[in-house]
Amino acid sequence: MEPNSGAPLREMWYYAVAGSRLKPGKLLPKTMLGEPIVLGRKSDGSVFALRDICPHRGIPLSFGRMCDDDVECCFHGWRFNSAGRCTSIPSLTPQQKSTDVGKIKVAAYPAREVQGSIWVFFGEDPATAPEIPVLPDIGERKPQLIYSLAAKCGFDDAVYGQMDPSHNPYVHVSPWWRRSGGVYDKAKAFGPTPYGFSMLRHKPSTNLLPYKILGVPETEIIFRLPSTRIEITRFGRHSIYTLNAVTPLAEGEIEMNYAAYWTAPWITLAKPVVQWALHNFIDQDRRVLEKQRVGLRHQPTLMLIDDVDVQAKWYFRLKNEYVRAKTEGRPFDNPVKERTLYWRS
Ligand code: FES
Ligand SMILES: [Fe+2]
Repeated sequence: MEPNSGAPLREMWYYAVAGSRLKPGKLLPKTMLGEPIVLGRKSDGSVFALRDICPHRGIPLSFGRMCDDDVECCFHGWRFNSAGRCTSIPSLTPQQKSTDVGKIKVAAYPAREVQGSIWVFFGEDPATAPEIPVLPDIGERKPQLIYSLAAKCGFDDAVYGQMDPSHNPYVHVSPWWRRSGGVYDKAKAFGPTPYGFSMLRHKPSTNLLPYKILGVPETEIIFRLPSTRIEITRFGRHSIYTLNAVTPLAEGEIEMNYAAYWTAPWITLAKPVVQWALHNFIDQDRRVLEKQRVGLRHQPTLMLIDDVDVQAKWYFRLKNEYVRAKTEGRPFDNPVKERTLYWRS
């Protein structure tokens, strides 16, 4: 038995939003890990994140506006820079101007944009946390496709839902992906990777329709704490890269975020179809996770079996080890060992 739906790890970067959704000069409110955040982009293109509460009278700063790269509160016009420091209190008279407004602060969160996705750090020390995942071989390219869907379910349930092979023949059934009924023998080699594990390069299942069409030679899937899954599929000269990241919004609310990149121009032509297919696929996950939530209210423990649920077990071990290593002030010791897992799915 494993505990589930625990709190998301702190001292971690979390995916916040696709960079293209945050326009310069605009403010974007978002609740993450139960905390109100306002995201902004300055005129030089850099991004920032502040606590979305004005320290004066508590109104969300996101109701205000960007003014000369500062955030101006809509209530009494106090301004804060991207580091959270107050830069102006318009109601002060010239005599009162000696008041050190710079001592007034709103909490600032480290925020970074990497390969077209904005990440926010929750914790004290980003330097000792796992790096924001970077997809190989694509430089600072932006995603050709982004998708995001909220669900009412536990954070852990959604994270290991990404690495649950045996739900596929029951949940992801559709005429264009896989038909119901069949399960196939699988043997997949795994190994440890930084703060996670990888399903090593392998030939994907030929029972999946798109792979039959593409003639895909190789796929690799990498999981990393706190909640990202990267899939790299290479066929001939071309590759498809997908980043999945589960973002904890509040207790019992998450967001499944996707960013996809590809090198084959013809995939761009098929983008509307891919977008539609992705929505259907992710929505299948959303519906089943929300149904699972109904039962977990009565029985919050899971029964995880070998070998098909070993990845979920690894997830809990990685999470526990991360907390233990931080508490004991020692380096993270990845509990995952090389192993081949066998199942039918
Ligand atoms: S509440 Fe923000 S300036 Fe007064
Ligand atoms: Fe799924």
